[in-house]
Amino acid sequence: MEIFIKSDTNSVFFRCVQDSNEAIMISDIRGRLVYVNPAWSKIYGYEFESAVGQTPRLLHSGLHSDDFYREMWTRISNPEIASWKGELVNRAKDGSLVPVMLSITPFRDSNGQVSGYMGIALDMTERRELEAKIAHQDRLASIGMLASGLAHEIGTPLGVIRGRAELMGMQFENAEAQKGFEIITSQIDRISKLIRSLLRLSRNFSTAHLETVKVRGIADDILALLSQNFTKLNIKIQNEIPIDTEVLADPERLSQILLNLSINAAQAMEARGSLPDGQSHSFIFSCLPEEEGYITVSVTDTGTGISKENLKKLFKPFFTTKGVGEGTGLGLAISSQLMREMEGEISVSSEVNRGAQFYLKLRRVPHLPHR
Ligand SMILES: Nc1ncnc2c1ncn2[C@@H]1O[C@H](COP(=O)(O)OP(=O)(O)O)[C@@H](O)[C@H]1O
Ligand SMILES: [Mg+2]
Repeated sequence: MEIFIKSDTNSVFFRCVQDSNEAIMISDIRGRLVYVNPAWSKIYGYEFESAVGQTPRLLHSGLHSDDFYREMWTRISNPEIASWKGELVNRAKDGSLVPVMLSITPFRDSNGQVSGYMGIALDMTERRELEAKIAHQDRLASIGMLASGLAHEIGTPLGVIRGRAELMGMQFENAEAQKGFEIITSQIDRISKLIRSLLRLSRNFSTAHLETVKVRGIADDILALLSQNFTKLNIKIQNEIPIDTEVLADPERLSQILLNLSINAAQAMEARGSLPDGQSHSFIFSCLPEEEGYITVSVTDTGTGISKENLKKLFKPFFTTKGVGEGTGLGLAISSQLMREMEGEISVSSEVNRGAQFYLKLRRVPHLPHR
């Protein structure tokens, strides 16, 4: 068997198997590996020399029962079926789990006797991760729907409470009691504002409607929404966008983008942990000096920063450095899509351990000639 393989290294068949993108292993009739190709070594981490002579049990992850393997071999040995194909989880040399789609077929010698088995394994890792992410995204979408329903349900009784509190406040002469009712109404207003921001975000996006938007107000809404998170992490927040800055944008889209950037920033600062010399983290919304026809809003953080290599992939869908359940890798992909829909652009500059700065280049409102 070994001799057959070694003497055959120049044949087209051998080259095909050797260079195949799919992991291929060949065992003798007793199940001992006589050949594995480089793709096999790549996904499992065992070199040819250390794999040959072992049995594929080397790859057992412990996640499948004995019955599972018994059933597999019953099918392979049954002359009428003579194959097994299915998904299973293997374990690579470094201990990591590798989900694969595996196909095993016996092969015969010139006398028709089974002389060994060939297994082809398709690495399903990326596919599994993608599926997990999409499932997570689905959950987020349904939570969004729930949130908007809930916001409506809360909004109505809040309005009633506010009206009553205001009325009752007016009936008291006592300054202290009046003050109490004022606090009640102002706190209710705070809740309503949060609910309105939530609603705006969960609303369905249709085509972009560009209108004159005061950016600072939108940024303030986002900061209000996230103030808890920022305070908890001890992050200093600053909104340096001038009050009268106006751009041509779709307010819902712009909120969504600023929210995505802010959440990423908070996560990056949390991931970096405390700064040297006891400095505190800071998060800044500001504007760059104006350019002809455009206004650039920047979002700056003091988080982990981004490596050169990752900077290239940042806006690609599903690119994430966060674990499943934490990141979907969709935030920036969606944000850049939304920016394009508003005839703007998103860009970034960052270095590892230097924080990150994202730029939103938005169209400015054209000055109308005075009449
Ligand atoms: N402010 C930031 N600082 C450092 N890294 C960032 C920042 N924003 C985004 N990133 C990197 O870009 C990746 C993609 O971001 P995003 O598209 O929002 O997806 P997600 O946040 O779900 O991972 C993140 O996983 C992270 O590695
Ligand atoms: Mg994100």
